[in-house]
Amino acid sequence: MKITIFGSGYVGLVTGACFAEVGNDVLCVDIDEEKISRLKQGEIPIYEPGLEDMAVDNAREGRLRFTSDPAEGVAFGLFQFIAVGTPPDEDGSADLRHVLSVAKTIGSNMEDYRIIVDKSTVPVGTADLVSEQVKSAMEERGVSIDYDVVSNPEFLKEGDAISDFMKPERIIVGVDNPRTKELLRNLYAPFNRSHERFIAMDVRSAELTKYAANAMLATKISFMNEIANIAERVGADVEAVRHGIGSDSRIGFSFIYPGVGYGGSCFPKDVQALEKTAVKYGYDARILQAVEAVNHDQKVSLVDKMKGHFGNELKGKTIALWGLAFKPNTDDMREAPSRRVIEELWAAGASVRAYDPVAMDEARRIYGERADLKLVETSEDALKGADALAVVTEWRVFRSPDFEVIKQELSSPVIFDGRNIYNPDLMEQLGITYYSIGRIPRGEGLSQQP
Ligand code: UDX
Repeated sequence: MKITIFGSGYVGLVTGACFAEVGNDVLCVDIDEEKISRLKQGEIPIYEPGLEDMAVDNAREGRLRFTSDPAEGVAFGLFQFIAVGTPPDEDGSADLRHVLSVAKTIGSNMEDYRIIVDKSTVPVGTADLVSEQVKSAMEERGVSIDYDVVSNPEFLKEGDAISDFMKPERIIVGVDNPRTKELLRNLYAPFNRSHERFIAMDVRSAELTKYAANAMLATKISFMNEIANIAERVGADVEAVRHGIGSDSRIGFSFIYPGVGYGGSCFPKDVQALEKTAVKYGYDARILQAVEAVNHDQKVSLVDKMKGHFGNELKGKTIALWGLAFKPNTDDMREAPSRRVIEELWAAGASVRAYDPVAMDEARRIYGERADLKLVETSEDALKGADALAVVTEWRVFRSPDFEVIKQELSSPVIFDGRNIYNPDLMEQLGITYYSIGRIPRGEGLSQQP
């Protein structure tokens, strides 16, 4: 099959590489010429395990190509995937400018039947807007050519995107035309082999499915963070509670890890956008608002603990920070809890020595080098001259560090663990003062308040 993908960002590149991998001819389009010229040379602008090899191999075989010419894209594929960004507007609604601009490009250039597939996460009703945009662009040219608009939300997790695409748990397709439904079923057949994962429904339900899935997961996390905050106050251990409730199969163990809040390009944006959609349709989505509010506060819970420990005086203190990416296995720092932690520390007059296994360039791009932020080359270097260690992202390499080095380097041995990756008993044995999330603090010089 011939497939065009508009938008060579995270979703577009993964989708393009995976469709090419199973033998399709894929053309990726982006208006950013520099990005396209780098892609043509085999340079993948994002960090995603396995993506570069897959893209390079398929490009070499001629199945994956790149262009900055949108008209070439429209002429190429029967399937026209829209995988451009939908950044939040000032009020948190999804900004559809890029999506609608691609729709206009398609309407202005198409000469034959096209299946336009919304892959970007777009509010309910967007497929209708896309359709209107295509139609009016054709009317301007005085032509009328048949087309369909389909919703096909992606469920890729950063760091696992290739396997999520190649072995999906479900393929959601919102489609009104039965013939188009069959074409999409065929397109996805290589990824739908062991049992039926193709779920077709009406377009609006597919659009809502994506938001409902992300909002449900974000809710689980905020709920668990709230339980952690209660656990701290009543003297309980949230890790025991997590174990206890997760073993109820109706609840399950996934996405109930307490921490410093969820980040990334999806949960924060999608929870807000769904809430705005509800408002637009006259519904006050109170659970979504609470999910968002709990997450907002949770991102600074570690800094609150530091303030408690240091007698509300962080001025002049240096904090070693491990983990900048919003989660492990990505260099993405969008809405990362680390950013709130760093910014709150600055506001309190502290400075930061930060290390992340892959997000250093991204941190440099966002903040640059400054007197109150040293971006260092190793996790041990981050500890030098610091007053405490804060663990913000649970990268594997942070799980079993040399605690003796931590004790030697810090001015006094204290760890603020935002991901509960260390054993409190061990910390106590080692003589490290240890604060974590939803567990009773251990060690010397503890603050009185949680
Ligand atoms: C998410 C969805 O999982 C994916 O299906 C959707 O397509 C896009 O959004 P992603 O943003 O890549 O994917 O990250 P995910 O692994 O879901 O983690 C999101 C955030 O939640 C991270 O900040 C993570 O640290 C946090 N999290 C996750 C928790 O705090 N606790 C948990 O138990 C799980």
